[in-house]
Amino acid sequence: MSPPHPIQYQGSKRNLAPIILRYLPKDIDYLIEPFAGSAAISIAAAEHQLAKNYWINDLNKPLSELLQLIVESPNDIASFYEQIWNAQHHNSFEHYYKVREDFNHTKDPRLFLYLLARCVKGSVRYNSEGLFNQSPDKRRCGTRPKTMRTNIFGVSSLLKGKVKFSSDDYKDVLAKSQKTDLIYMDPPYQGVCGDKDCRYLSGIDHNDFLTALEELNSRGIRYIVSYDGRRGDKTFGATLPAFLDLTHIELDAGRSSQATLLGRDEITHESLYLSRNLIEKLSKKSTESNRHFRIQQLMLLEPHT
Ligand SMILES: C[S@@+](CC[C@H](N)C(=O)[O-])C[C@H]1O[C@@H](n2cnc3c(N)ncnc32)[C@H](O)[C@@H]1O
Repeated sequence: MSPPHPIQYQGSKRNLAPIILRYLPKDIDYLIEPFAGSAAISIAAAEHQLAKNYWINDLNKPLSELLQLIVESPNDIASFYEQIWNAQHHNSFEHYYKVREDFNHTKDPRLFLYLLARCVKGSVRYNSEGLFNQSPDKRRCGTRPKTMRTNIFGVSSLLKGKVKFSSDDYKDVLAKSQKTDLIYMDPPYQGVCGDKDCRYLSGIDHNDFLTALEELNSRGIRYIVSYDGRRGDKTFGATLPAFLDLTHIELDAGRSSQATLLGRDEITHESLYLSRNLIEKLSKKSTESNRHFRIQQLMLLEPHT
């Protein structure tokens, strides 16, 4: 059974989570997601009890507030969703645009859940003033309230009492991390939008990000980064530089629907980078007489470039 997911979100790592979790060490105090989005990795890790605590952060405040409501007040948010979903039937487009207007005015995270469930492909889009401007999906009417309730309660039961939430810039979160933590970072991709992100509420500066990783290295903090990748021969964004001393792995993210439509049979590969001290930790584990660990080590130590 796959873990529960109440939030539809572009770039969600829910499909890659089972592979990414293989690279988590066993002794995590806080699993920190500074660019949490829908928090797919925290949810999947909690299902396997891979960390004692979790820290979910996203600069998008209504999004991190929504995750907090899901974890801490599941009944309230599930009932609110049911009410708003049921109200859409007379004229669902008009209803959607009204909710969108209210959300842009109030930033109420409960309205955001409905918009994410109902908008085109869970693809958040913002205009230059930071207002949510994605259109409703013309073919689907959004997750049914019963399914949504099940997903909300599923996430709450996995994470309640174990998470802290924030909506700070990722650098403030990194500054508070400890050696006993593991940071999983999935920033907006450089190759998609450059430093000025057009898809998420905010983008990041590539050079600032490299400096932040360098600082983590010097403080001995363990981390994993998902960053760009390639489809067929086309690479998105630059690979992270050698001075960071990272191990680069390419994950098979499946066939691209766009390439298939154009008659090309291309697989998307997403890049995953592991910090050196994490590799050392995992390699130590692999000396155990356990075949599984040895296979993992082979994968880890065979970086694809
Ligand atoms: C690729 S998405 C993360 C997707 C996530 N891994 C998931 O499974 O849903 C990147 C996220 O980074 C957030 N973000 C952008 N700039 C940020 C910043 N400076 N600090 C913290 N979060 C930021 C965006 O709001 C977006 O939700």
